[in-house]
Amino acid sequence: MLTFPNKYCQLDAHPNQQKFLALDCLEAFFGGAAGGGKSAALFMAALQYADVPGYSALIVRKDTQRLALSGGLIPRSHQWLADSPARWNEARRTWSFPQEKGPPATLTFGYLSRPADKFRYASSEFQYIAFDELTELREEDYLFLFSRLRRAKNIDVRLRVRSASNPGNSGHLWVRERFVRDWSPTADLPEGMTSQGGVLWFEGRAFVPSLIADNPSLHREEYLASLGHLPPLTRQRLACGDWSVQEKGQFRAEWLRYFILAGEQYELLGPTGTTLTVIPQQACRRFATVDPAGTSADLDADARTGSRSFSVVQVWDQPRHPDLSRFLILRDQQRDQVSINDLCKMIRRVHSAWRPERIWIEQEKLGHSLVCMLANGTPTIRADLVPPGISDKATRAAPLANKMERGEVFLPKYNSSWRQGFERELLAWTGNSREPSDQIDAAAYAAIVADQSGPGILTIHPVLFRG
Ligand SMILES: Nc1ncnc2c1ncn2[C@@H]1O[C@H](COP(=O)(O)OP(=O)(O)O)[C@@H](O)[C@H]1O
Ligand SMILES: [Mg+2]
Repeated sequence: MLTFPNKYCQLDAHPNQQKFLALDCLEAFFGGAAGGGKSAALFMAALQYADVPGYSALIVRKDTQRLALSGGLIPRSHQWLADSPARWNEARRTWSFPQEKGPPATLTFGYLSRPADKFRYASSEFQYIAFDELTELREEDYLFLFSRLRRAKNIDVRLRVRSASNPGNSGHLWVRERFVRDWSPTADLPEGMTSQGGVLWFEGRAFVPSLIADNPSLHREEYLASLGHLPPLTRQRLACGDWSVQEKGQFRAEWLRYFILAGEQYELLGPTGTTLTVIPQQACRRFATVDPAGTSADLDADARTGSRSFSVVQVWDQPRHPDLSRFLILRDQQRDQVSINDLCKMIRRVHSAWRPERIWIEQEKLGHSLVCMLANGTPTIRADLVPPGISDKATRAAPLANKMERGEVFLPKYNSSWRQGFERELLAWTGNSREPSDQIDAAAYAAIVADQSGPGILTIHPVLFRG
């Protein structure tokens, strides 16, 4: 019987959360847009039987950091349970709910980061197991925990496995296969799926679609704006709960734009090939970006992953005029598997051929040594390290993807030996760390430094280049 708010949880469940909480089947999934109230619903469902002596519930995520971060379920549980008789045990990450008679009910927060982590729960029994952000987890870990579902003697509650997730992440496909199938709000129901009062059923499992609009507690516009820093496809998945967006590329072919070099001028072409604007080369500041991967220090890593990594040097032109400085023109690219000495020579060659005002080198790996080698050799070349930021590649590439989605990055239409290879890498890339991304990395740095440097900043040190 659904009674919310109950004596522990003072949240009023929203209509979609109520549908989810009212389910008494074994397995149910709340899936879709971020902000739909899914995590809160898993928590509320855990508390549904918190007044039954001996009841025990488990909520897992991939790692405890994500549960404990501000805004994560653990701090939120502290807000929600602040005025209740429930007590928190930090070492066990467990709430206990004292009963008038009999043992307390409990709610434990756990994690499943590595395959062996599931065995941490091998000797426990739960009547409720919930998985938050299910697409971050492995299917075998999910299925294993079903074996921890036991109705203890004298406890009259239904056994429930509940999960919630945004689309995307490494487990997207198995989660979609298990609950969502080809469902979409605008298409016919997939074969074998039935719909009852907004709950979709497939092979006895329930799926409640979640939309941001279903959560009146959230300021929708603000929330959508806060997703703006993410790559476009991730954003679409999170904001619309769109499961049909496959784990394909992070970049789309229709975002590609080209330029033609007409004498000393760049003709930037729009999506249909018409001229967008004409910019003299002289009106641009030129800089280079370097991804030093592939030098000898990377050989170990290459041996482990079986891949071969390349060093990349790219030459970029950015119009100086503030109205046009959002555009980036990729003028040249050098790509090779070289030692650090040869990479240094490669940068020197690019420098003397293209005269970039600044050279930006990836901070990680060999960046520091390269900066010193360039500064100490003859001629002296000044290079800078790309400001360290987020280390995950997909997030680092987000400014590039956003720029490309807006049609602000231009590649040479003619006379280039490297453009097709660059496009192939772009369009194949899903953000997975095993895929080659050296050209994307170098371009991602360009988008980062171009965004960060206000007008003029890139021209501070031109005199230092005595090459
Ligand atoms: N029933 C509710 N009452 C009040 N606030 C809620 C309720 N459900 C969700 N929220 C709040 O809305 C925000 C988004 O909810 P959350 O459960 O994190 O969404 P999701 O997991 O789908 O991204 C959170 O701040 C959460 O505390
Ligand atoms: Mg959530």
